[in-house]
Amino acid sequence: MDVVVSGIRSTGNLHLGNYFGMVRNAVRMQHENHCYFFIADYHALTTHPNPGDLHDNIKQVLAEYLACGIDPDVATLFIQSDVPEVCELYLLLNMSAYIGELERTTSFKEKVRKQPDNVNAGLLTYPVLMAADIIIHRANKVPVGKDQEQHLEMTRRFARRFNSMYSVDYFPEPDAYNFGAKLVKIPGLDGTGKMGKSEGNGIFLTDEPSVIRKKVMRAVTDTGPARRNQKPSEPVANLFTLMEVLSDPSTVEYFREKHASCEIRYGDMKKQLAEDVVNFTTPIRERINEIMADSAYLSKVAGMGAEKARASAGRTIREVREIMGYRKF
Ligand code: TRP
Repeated sequence: MDVVVSGIRSTGNLHLGNYFGMVRNAVRMQHENHCYFFIADYHALTTHPNPGDLHDNIKQVLAEYLACGIDPDVATLFIQSDVPEVCELYLLLNMSAYIGELERTTSFKEKVRKQPDNVNAGLLTYPVLMAADIIIHRANKVPVGKDQEQHLEMTRRFARRFNSMYSVDYFPEPDAYNFGAKLVKIPGLDGTGKMGKSEGNGIFLTDEPSVIRKKVMRAVTDTGPARRNQKPSEPVANLFTLMEVLSDPSTVEYFREKHASCEIRYGDMKKQLAEDVVNFTTPIRERINEIMADSAYLSKVAGMGAEKARASAGRTIREVREIMGYRKF
């Protein structure tokens, strides 16, 4: 079985883009692989979250992942800061990560631009911590989006560098894992681009039906097709994409035909889409609320995950220390 690692920063609720992009696939992968899924709460510190919110944000993401179907008895689901072994590997890897390569990282340069008054060393070494997250479980596959490709490239480089520095074949070089043709990019409701946490164009799994209806009814469309069989404009095509993942195939076909014959009423289409989103998210939202109210269950899950993750991480740290020359007195 392959070892799979993936992390999610605890900086906001999950939306439909997260669900169809990564979570649904994580849920499907958990049975055929040895999976470690975690909440990257150390990584969340680079933007200095408020201590009063930190715990609740972690709890929310944990509950959302469980509600989506990650089974803590099958996958190892844990919180990064419960596994301090990763800090040790991070320190060790920092000694062979070079300032130049870290400064050239796209995500670092972007952060320097976005938060010029908080260019902390944690931002610079973000890829080293991420590499530690991955190789501490000696993972082969990392399901991530395209935006993480460079970080994964660096992870491979750090793993390779460790192996060659110590003349060992210890860390595998993990590959970004793509789910093939089925991977869909979920668009936002504002006409262009993808659904994001900060773009204000998303539908969250926790949104109430009234909120969902309002958001969908406000989605951008166009003035209607001018001739038969016209290709839908981008905002309308985006609504069809959402329908394709959420609605019954006959519904999609019905509205496609209406569009092709210029008889479409976008109001009707959006009303239908809103109901389909509500039907899809309602059971998930109800499960999130149930799980959030069950602190004993959350604490059991976090404890179980921490124990399994620490067993794997502890083994790697012992072996790495040995390879590097640390000996017991
Ligand atoms: N950097 C990732 C993101 O922003 C989160 C992350 C942290 C991660 N550590 C990881 C993803 C390890 C995969 C594996 O989305």
